[in-house]
Amino acid sequence: MSKTLTLTDNDTGRSAELPVLEPTYGTPVVDISGVPREIGCFTHDPGYGATSACRSWVTYIDGDQGILLYRGYPIEQLAEKSSFLEVCYLLIYGELPGAAEWVEFEADIRKHTMVHEGLRTIITGYRRGSHPMAMMVGLVGALSGFYHDALDVNDPAHRLACIHRLVAKMPTIAADTHKWGAGQPFMHPDNSYGFVENFMRMMFGVPAEPFEVDPVAARALELMMILHADHEQNASTSTVRLCGSSGTNPYAAIAAGIATLWGPAHGGANEAVVQMLSEIGGRGDIPKFIDRVKDRESGVRLMGFGHRVYKSYDPRASIIRNACHDLLSKLEGTEREQPMFESALELERIARSDDYFIERNLYPNVDFYSGIILSALGFPLNMFTVIFAVARTVGWITQWNEMLGDTEDFRIGRPRQLYLGHARRDYVPAEERS
Ligand code: CMC
Repeated sequence: MSKTLTLTDNDTGRSAELPVLEPTYGTPVVDISGVPREIGCFTHDPGYGATSACRSWVTYIDGDQGILLYRGYPIEQLAEKSSFLEVCYLLIYGELPGAAEWVEFEADIRKHTMVHEGLRTIITGYRRGSHPMAMMVGLVGALSGFYHDALDVNDPAHRLACIHRLVAKMPTIAADTHKWGAGQPFMHPDNSYGFVENFMRMMFGVPAEPFEVDPVAARALELMMILHADHEQNASTSTVRLCGSSGTNPYAAIAAGIATLWGPAHGGANEAVVQMLSEIGGRGDIPKFIDRVKDRESGVRLMGFGHRVYKSYDPRASIIRNACHDLLSKLEGTEREQPMFESALELERIARSDDYFIERNLYPNVDFYSGIILSALGFPLNMFTVIFAVARTVGWITQWNEMLGDTEDFRIGRPRQLYLGHARRDYVPAEERS
């Protein structure tokens, strides 16, 4: 028998029987859509901490147990056994690919790795030294002007074409933003390389020299991209859904997602963590820094700690922490990252034995150790959030596609508000104002 929850307005006696929806896993969800009609009020939930905004079949997080599943598969298994491109297939299509499906998918992605040369002309209009995320927001939005042959969002085949294009082109665009800042020539993709290796070549290679892929580095980047591929209804994904709900084209919706990701409370935290570690100084300065974090007046946060959903260790953070141990011992030229990693471990140790963090269930999140890996791989600080965006694109676009395909629940997103402004009043001419 289906469950309901009764909500009663004690003043008017009006009440509503609200359906309780049972998920595959996790907390049941009360369908409040009938509340305004049956009781005459809206619900208020700033930051959406108690609100499910959609049905989804893509990703599941158990924040208390520290569990993350993509299409039902544990992140630990995917991180160990899969590739980023295979994870893309899994997210987009819902199942791991069979042999023939894989060949077809990989070939289609390869076909789309180049970008229109006009996009590169746009890049040259950016000031040298512009933040790469500033360029990413503009360039991904601009894609809609170049690939307008398949922009009917109501046509599933058009949507799939956009999905493949976005997944394929994001590494090329990301590398171009770096090359523009570095004053080096843009690299064209070379599809004889694997997806991640091609990205590394476009980032770090130059046309004058052959590029040799370090398999240890390539696997580390692959791992980072798998871990960042999707994370259910976070701020940037919800932005993509809300933006896309108006029927706008997917490139514009993904540009909105990139803009949201950029903030330091979201994807910008990986950059902020490395900045924080260098500002703290030596390990001896950590207790002083922790005191500043605990002082509410200071406004300082321990970046890379805390999460809206995880109230235990973020499973991605523990995978990245282990990868740091492994990578830093195998990669050469990590003299800068070794002490940074040691400081981060010490910072985690001190924070996790401090009542402030224990009482609030604050643990390292995905961003705490990821900057150390990206730095060891040679990515400059201002590219960290870009790497996050490249990897998250498949999650954003999968969720966008899911929303448009959900014929039962899909409507334009349109929250309501609690208006606390002035009551109606009459216009006062300028000469009569005090
Ligand atoms: N440092 C110090 N105190 C913190 C932190 C932190 N990093 N995070 C939360 N708190 C405190 C906060 O002050 C509050 O205390 P009180 O109850 O006394 O007022 C309590 O913990 C609850 O925090 P909140 O801000 O209400 O939690 P939220 O769910 O709204 O915010 C968050 C989540 C991720 C924005 C926040 O934890 C934060 O700012 N963390 C630092 C930035 C960061 O690492 N962001 C990356 C998030 S994970 C990857 C991603 O989304 O891209």
